[in-house]
Amino acid sequence: MDLFRRTIDDLASELPGAAEVFHRHRIDVCTSHGVSARRAAIARGLDPIAMEAELQALYSVEPIAPTEPQALIAHILKRYHATHLREFPEAIRLATMVETVHRHSDLCPIGLADHLAEMAEDLEHHQQKEEAVLFPLMLAGGGPMLQFPIARMNQEHEDVERQLGMIASLTRNLTTPPDACGSWTALYALCRKITDDLREHMRIETEVLFPQFGATPAS
Ligand SMILES: [Fe+2]
Ligand SMILES: [Fe+2]
Repeated sequence: MDLFRRTIDDLASELPGAAEVFHRHRIDVCTSHGVSARRAAIARGLDPIAMEAELQALYSVEPIAPTEPQALIAHILKRYHATHLREFPEAIRLATMVETVHRHSDLCPIGLADHLAEMAEDLEHHQQKEEAVLFPLMLAGGGPMLQFPIARMNQEHEDVERQLGMIASLTRNLTTPPDACGSWTALYALCRKITDDLREHMRIETEVLFPQFGATPAS
């Protein structure tokens, strides 16, 4: 796949994470409409091969989640906890930019940046509890004392689901206007990825990991 033949705005809107790569290299997705990634990289004096490799890495193949607790916990930490911590700041940055530039548009997702910041803070606390308390207890063999923390985590998963509903409502189900700029389309592409990742992250914990320690799978 020759990514560099594709335009900056195409890549930013279709490939979650591409906007962050461009931002890091000081390529403005809003003013690069129709410019190929190759041309933009050369114009900024960047190493095109290195930047193409960064973009290519975003197409990584989804690993299959293991079921054995130790391997599954390692998978959750790497594939979801670390990814959320990396992606929320970029989504907040893009939302802040969109709300600033397009605040007079009826379709502007006013309040999205604050909502994402609140979600990121809640999620960080949730993940810290899993990492510091629940997962170590599971790795030590579990036991009846796990019932309370598992119930608490499942409650918090329901809170996350409500927060995802708020993202959908602020963004008209992540529908960009026809004339949306590169940052706006990149924001919604990243919010879609965050939404899908969070739902799969919570499904794996609630339906695959927690039941191995006595929790009843959610109906
Ligand atoms: Fe988790
Ligand atoms: Fe969780």
